[in-house]
Amino acid sequence: MTGLTASRKLDHLNLCANTDVAFGDAGFSDVRLVHNAVPECSADEIDISTTFLGRRLNAPIFIAAMTGGHPDTAEVNKTLAAAAEHFNIPMGVGSQRAALENPNLADSFTVVRETAPNAFLAGNISAVQLRDHGLEWAERAVSMIDADALCIHLNFLQEIIQVEGDRSGVGILATIREACRELSVPVIVKETGSGISREAASALYDAGAAAIDVGGFGGTSWAKIEKARASDKTHQMLGDTFLEWGIPTAVSVFEVAQVGACPVIATGGLKNGLDAAKAIALGADMAGMALTLLPDALKGKDALFSRIETLCGELKTAMFLTGAQNISALAKVRYYLTGTVREMTNK
Ligand SMILES: Cc1cc2nc3c(=O)[nH]c(=O)nc-3n(C[C@H](O)[C@H](O)[C@H](O)COP(=O)(O)O)c2cc1C
Repeated sequence: MTGLTASRKLDHLNLCANTDVAFGDAGFSDVRLVHNAVPECSADEIDISTTFLGRRLNAPIFIAAMTGGHPDTAEVNKTLAAAAEHFNIPMGVGSQRAALENPNLADSFTVVRETAPNAFLAGNISAVQLRDHGLEWAERAVSMIDADALCIHLNFLQEIIQVEGDRSGVGILATIREACRELSVPVIVKETGSGISREAASALYDAGAAAIDVGGFGGTSWAKIEKARASDKTHQMLGDTFLEWGIPTAVSVFEVAQVGACPVIATGGLKNGLDAAKAIALGADMAGMALTLLPDALKGKDALFSRIETLCGELKTAMFLTGAQNISALAKVRYYLTGTVREMTNK
């Protein structure tokens, strides 16, 4: 028996794989890195290694949480994990709720640690589920994959459009605070497509978040996905009305990085290594991607490895052309802001 949660995860994966589920503009076309006509470095010696939550990594690319929980998702998780291990980059698994509800479904998650024994792996649980089930769920999620961190995800736009969604955010901050205090691994708080504002970031830092993944607007659209899944007119209309809801990723990174205090992951609509470079210049420590990696992950290891090589090559090219030899130099590169991002950041 796979159950409702597991079949919902498969629905999501299939919809994302077979239809256009992206919506909006993450804002990276409004960000231009300043070209350096006299880069005092060599394109072949650009160093993209970095440190995140105490771990040395070969690149600032984070494979964002996608899937697991249905037997049919094991293969794609295995491919993603192989990439995390090969490139020494972090990977987040999808929500572990299905396997917490039914431990017989844990295989599609445990395969990730089996395939990536040395990689930085992040578990995943929704803030709402954590509030309703208590810390024991978080501990089980961590031990299921021997996680190096736990992602607690926030997805109220999705929940409210989902017919079976949770409708209350009461007690969420207290839940996150308790998890940050009690868990043996660092907590990464992540949005899933609506972004994190500077006010929300302050509250999350206060609660003890070790890192924030902005999960901004402009990539995978949960309003679009849940609208497609809804069978009743009310939820379909809600999805339509709130299609444009959210803080564009570039703006969210800018705001959250200004609050400071803990590492920032830029996820939401990043399409290539140049977007990753722009995100880092705006203040991110890591560049996260889900939808951009999914088609190649479904094709298999060769396609995904080649995609990640390309991403790293594009990132290095942007660094060479800005004269940034390493990631800390990239973080200080000057940029111009135009259009909506300029208006929204007042910069
Ligand atoms: C197929 C799919 C499934 C996802 N499932 C989860 C999930 O279970 N938990 C979670 O925190 N985020 C989940 N996400 C959200 C991503 O981690 C990410 O925050 C979001 O998709 C924005 O990034 P993107 O525009 O690069 O896809 C999922 C994304 C996709 C595409």
